[in-house]
Amino acid sequence: MLPSALESLLQQQLTNERWSAAIYEQMQWHFKNVALDGMAHWMEKQASEEMAHFVKQADYLVDRSCEPMLDALKPVPSYLGKAPVEIFALALAHEQEVTAQIQRIYTEAKKLDDATAIKFEWFVSEQVEEERALADILMNFTMFDTWQMDQNLGKR
Ligand SMILES: [Fe+2]
Ligand SMILES: [Fe+2]
Repeated sequence: MLPSALESLLQQQLTNERWSAAIYEQMQWHFKNVALDGMAHWMEKQASEEMAHFVKQADYLVDRSCEPMLDALKPVPSYLGKAPVEIFALALAHEQEVTAQIQRIYTEAKKLDDATAIKFEWFVSEQVEEERALADILMNFTMFDTWQMDQNLGKR
């Protein structure tokens, strides 16, 4: 059985992953509105990765005989009027928060439940990749103009 302290962290993370998907969808719509279709495409892919994280974690709760429970989502912010680079900087800051959430789960899992620790190793590595990808994009913004960035990000 999953220790209840760990189960509540995992349940909370389900909502966190859904919220991640929701903010990336919002960023996608914003980029579509300002005719940056490549950036919108990048955000669409990012949102679908977050949904895949959510499904992976929900399936794991089911494997452990728990019922996945989604909590209410916080309202999603508007990105109206923000420059593309600011939006990608917000995405990086968001991923850094998620890394801290995943780290907390992993630390607790190592103390309480080996199977969860093993399962969450994948998420620990995934967060390294997500932060790296966004840090690279932010560096690229210092070298390329908006049009070129839109072309590049459209290739994801
Ligand atoms: Fe995620
Ligand atoms: Fe993420």
